[in-house]
Amino acid sequence: MIRIRFPRDVAPPAWLDPPPLGVEVTTDPRVIALETEKNGPEQFAAVERTLRPMFQHLWRSGTVPFRVVLVETQSGCNYSCEFCPVAKAIDPRPFGQLDITLIRKIATELGAFGYDRTIALFANNEPLLDPRLEEIISIFRSSCQNAHIRVLTNGILASRERVTSLFNAGLSLLIVNNYTDGRRLIGPTRDLISAAKDFLPFDIRISVRDRRQVLTTRAGLAPNRSPLTAPMRGFCALPFTDIVVSHTGLINLCGFDAYGQVVIGDVRTSSLVGAWTSEPFTRYRQSLLLGVRKGLQLCEKCDFDGFRDPFGQEKIMTRGDLTKHDQKNP
Ligand SMILES: C[S@@+](CC[C@H](N)C(=O)[O-])C[C@H]1O[C@@H](n2cnc3c(N)ncnc32)[C@H](O)[C@@H]1O
Ligand code: SF4
Repeated sequence: MIRIRFPRDVAPPAWLDPPPLGVEVTTDPRVIALETEKNGPEQFAAVERTLRPMFQHLWRSGTVPFRVVLVETQSGCNYSCEFCPVAKAIDPRPFGQLDITLIRKIATELGAFGYDRTIALFANNEPLLDPRLEEIISIFRSSCQNAHIRVLTNGILASRERVTSLFNAGLSLLIVNNYTDGRRLIGPTRDLISAAKDFLPFDIRISVRDRRQVLTTRAGLAPNRSPLTAPMRGFCALPFTDIVVSHTGLINLCGFDAYGQVVIGDVRTSSLVGAWTSEPFTRYRQSLLLGVRKGLQLCEKCDFDGFRDPFGQEKIMTRGDLTKHDQKNP
């Protein structure tokens, strides 16, 4: 099934009314969240009210497992979003690939403890540029049968054949960020939609977006945002949920750290669990639980809050979810 979401002020094209078999035009933020539903004052307040107390409690009881493992299998992108620090024309990183033996090592570690949460095969790159992606998906799928393996792509290389082979390799979810200047549908997206009846068993979600959007400061790296004048105060939930392996094999503090400035481990020498419980990671978490970002490299330049669903699906929270959670945890 292909589900597609347009921005609030963009009407779906007439040929999608009614949508063809296998296509749903959705406005449900739990299926596809708009950027305005992920970051802003309302979400920040929800994080302070809901996520901070929840993680404070888990932290004290010593049980905060990661639930999203991001693996950047190689560097590089083939597009130019104005908000993105690794857009094709400005990415300062040399090309590099995460060695397949290291990928197997990560998968083996996760498999050994029956990891069944999210494995995201991208970070600051365009994952479909990696010709090994199918092989990498099958490595993770055979170690972690019940994990939710997802890929986020700009869709430029998302041909019918490629999408089919990614799902046949064991992918659970493909999110296509269809970026243009005018929020139109790009050719590959239109082609996927026209073949939608062949994709009924697959979970494909298309978000129609503008490549000139102004989003977060992304830890001070977003090229179209001026730096914060002073560090914000406030919690961020990302270091309590995500662990990020970059294409260099280094484990980074945060997925926003496109250039790998804060390293908490190295997959060659440490396990993911070892990095997760390392001293620098612990120090960042303790400070964030107090709402203090000042003095934390990256966080002091960042305006993101780690807004995520606390109920398990890594989906966006809705007002209803929050109300239910607030009632259970007054
Ligand atoms: C870096 S991209 C990598 C995957 C793929 N190339 C894509 O664009 O979907 C992953 C996500 O980072 C987001 N991103 C990039 N710069 C951002 C910023 N300044 N603030 C918030 N999100 C940003 C993108 O919008 C995208 O959803
Ligand atoms: S957001 Fe994705 S598609 Fe856009 S420049 Fe960054 S990596 Fe490339």
